[in-house]
Amino acid sequence: EKGGYDYFMLKEIAEQPKAVADTLLGRIDAEGQLTLDELRIDDAELREVDKIVMVACGTAYHAGMIAKYAIEHWTRIPCETELASEFRYRDPILDGRTLVVAISQSGETMDTLMALRHAREQGAKVLAICNTNGSTIPRESDAVLYTHAGPEVAVASTKAFLTQLVACYLVALYLGQVRGTKWGDEIGEVVGELARIGEQVDEVLATMEPVRELARGLADKGTVLFLGRHVGYPVALEGALKLKELAYMHAEGFAAGELKHGPIALIEDGLPVVVVVPSPRGRSVLHDKIVSNIQEIRARGAMTIVIAEEGDEAVVPYADHLVRVPRTPTLLQPMVAAVPLQVFACELATARGNEVDQPRNLAKSVTVE
Ligand code: F6R
Repeated sequence: EKGGYDYFMLKEIAEQPKAVADTLLGRIDAEGQLTLDELRIDDAELREVDKIVMVACGTAYHAGMIAKYAIEHWTRIPCETELASEFRYRDPILDGRTLVVAISQSGETMDTLMALRHAREQGAKVLAICNTNGSTIPRESDAVLYTHAGPEVAVASTKAFLTQLVACYLVALYLGQVRGTKWGDEIGEVVGELARIGEQVDEVLATMEPVRELARGLADKGTVLFLGRHVGYPVALEGALKLKELAYMHAEGFAAGELKHGPIALIEDGLPVVVVVPSPRGRSVLHDKIVSNIQEIRARGAMTIVIAEEGDEAVVPYADHLVRVPRTPTLLQPMVAAVPLQVFACELATARGNEVDQPRNLAKSVTVE
């Protein structure tokens, strides 16, 4: 059932282009308009939404963190993303115009379920983004948008993550469409690019051998740091989470802008630091700032592992290892940039002799607190 792969995780990483395509299927029409009839929250209600709160745990939370950038940019609705385990014990300010989005692969995560109950009790509408048909979280929500990743067996989430991003973006774009915000060239273009993401993930997958080789060479390291900013920041957190759970290594993700506020003190000779570089096009200010960060950490001895888009030449002089990802709009970059990090963690786990599909102490679905 592993389809010729050694681990379910490898199979699921390889299935990502299809998972992404399946999640888009039937949701964008020939004119590039979104059709999400399945949502069960009518457009009039969606036009009234004045606040969005995303709640989730772990990898799904990282998807929500990334979605916040897209939602605020495309819809101009204030959006926050919170760990379900924090949200449920807080006294959040919610009402009938708040849309709470609960993201969960399994649909059974206790904290996420409790967070959505907490939200509904206060009159908020809850939309579930979920991969498991008929599971508890969608059953208890007002509406559901299913991700079509297919069953995810490996404990570490990969294809579900990419499809969660796709689903979040569909919701964001749909909100933009029904509310008429920024609807026009920019969103039209993004919809087109979104439709190409599966192919681009395929391109990334075809170039992963150097990443695997690099990972094998790092098996004896104690720590790996990850840096990113804007949507690259949650990608850095996700890269670190994958490494912790699979390789049992100390791994931490930081917002690159925070480097000088503390983390730079950790840099020492030979420390591997993975840097997710934003596109030099678009938000080029951020690109230039991160290139300076790479220079700074390298000058202090870090081994720089740079993930940068095709054609970005500015990073070349400072990259000890360079991983290329295809050109894509800034907000979509996480879908291609996350893939090498998954491969990296999986290969490191293998090199360290760990059980890839069943990491120690972890369960696929966390139905207790
Ligand atoms: C990490 C991982 C976990 C889950 C988290 C939420 O690879 O798999 O962090 O993402 O437990 O699970 P779901 O999405 O089922 O609610």
